[in-house]
Amino acid sequence: MSDETDQLTDQELPSLIQAAYAPDTFQDLSATWATQLSEHMSAIMSGEGRVLNWSDPKELVDAASGMMHSPAGHSFSELIETALASGQNLHHPRYIGHQVPASIPSAALFDATGTVTNQPMAICEMGPWGTAVERAVLRALQKKIGWNPETCAGLLTSGGSLANMTALLTARNVCFPEAWQQGVPDHAVIVAQADAHYCVTRSAGILGIGTQRIVAAPLDDRRRMNPQQLDGILCKLKADGKKVIAVAAAACATPIGAFDPLDDIANVCEKHDVWLHVDAAHGGGTLMSSTHRTLLNGIERADSIVWDAHKMMFVPALCAAVLYRNKEHRYAAFQQDAPYLFDPSSPGLAEFDSGISTVECTKRTLGFGLWGMWSMYGEELFEQLIDHTFALTAFFHRQLTEAADFQPLHSPQCNIQVFRFVPESMAAASNEDISALQLRVRRALIESGDYYIVQTKLDGQAALRVTIINPLTTRTDLIELLNAIRRMADQTAD
Ligand SMILES: Cc1ncc(COP(=O)(O)O)c(C=O)c1O
Repeated sequence: MSDETDQLTDQELPSLIQAAYAPDTFQDLSATWATQLSEHMSAIMSGEGRVLNWSDPKELVDAASGMMHSPAGHSFSELIETALASGQNLHHPRYIGHQVPASIPSAALFDATGTVTNQPMAICEMGPWGTAVERAVLRALQKKIGWNPETCAGLLTSGGSLANMTALLTARNVCFPEAWQQGVPDHAVIVAQADAHYCVTRSAGILGIGTQRIVAAPLDDRRRMNPQQLDGILCKLKADGKKVIAVAAAACATPIGAFDPLDDIANVCEKHDVWLHVDAAHGGGTLMSSTHRTLLNGIERADSIVWDAHKMMFVPALCAAVLYRNKEHRYAAFQQDAPYLFDPSSPGLAEFDSGISTVECTKRTLGFGLWGMWSMYGEELFEQLIDHTFALTAFFHRQLTEAADFQPLHSPQCNIQVFRFVPESMAAASNEDISALQLRVRRALIESGDYYIVQTKLDGQAALRVTIINPLTTRTDLIELLNAIRRMADQTAD
């Protein structure tokens, strides 16, 4: 205890606590914050400045660390200014990189309401409105899938990776009810889309199944799971004495955004009586579009679904839903007793305690942003976001097809496009040299701050990849991207 604390009366607080908790301070700082943020967002959204403020990561760590330890301290506005000047500008129209959206800015204000008042949930009592909002959001997503909210269940969790792990844990425990206490038997396997996100394999490692017991389901020529071959694999696994915990399909898979034929896959799973898990972390939002939702036909037959709202529902990270078709499975993931939290004398209330079915005990109120946007604008907002970004991607694909020096590597099913730049001078170059060109151009482009795009590997070779996940990106930005890539190739040529 500090000397200062020792000498204070009940009415007095130590000076720093007083400063940190003063209501006036909070009011002043929030006004400053609102001005700084709105000016910053307005500039970025109109395309001013660089997309990524490229810096050596080590220098950034030193700078952040220096601010924490500088004897003179720093003002609030200086700290916020530094954060804004040093970040990735996802709201810049030329941000078309990873599957992280230019989120709807005002959605964050709902999140902030939860964080300022600190409403973390584990039990309903600790975040009654957060719990209500989460349930309402889950209900809305379940209806979009085509489920009856009375007979299904779900939860929100911190990201698609954790969501997939939670769903696969449930599948594991349903398949092997003793696994929680006794571990997983040797003959357990998971069959996963060959392009499944790495978190599926990682889940197998974490859940004691083992990464080597992921069996890859082969893909067709559009990188979608092939149902006939899946059937063959399930027959063979059965003949070999293996027990399949789940078939993990993708809607869509990360590399090129391929949607598996879920209806056909559901037929195969039904025939073999196997749990169907659909990772719709990216593609779930497509259900909001009456034009594109057919890509997910059959999803309503899945046993579990992961749907990230912080991807194609354009709310800030994180807000990932795990959805179970059968309500009975809602407690199957975690079979734990915590009498200090869960009150067996009021089982009706326990139904609303999120901690029973999530990895997290204390959990942020993850549903606020989605709930706020849905309540303010209606579900049509999400339909427009899907239709608009998918249309922009189709436009970009046409530009690539028409340009002699670009090669689109697939027709886009959604808002992901992978392609290569192969100028005439490189037409006869080796695969290695063409791969090296993609990496070189991409690095130069992001360091320039003109665009943010990503790189990937497809069939062992490097390629460029965009996710058009910013509704502010224009057709001109996309046309100009091709010119920027050509320019970077010239500037970086030896
Ligand atoms: C298909 C798919 N599943 C899961 C994830 C992981 O989601 P998160 O980054 O929210 O953990 C991703 C991320 O891009 C994804 O594309």
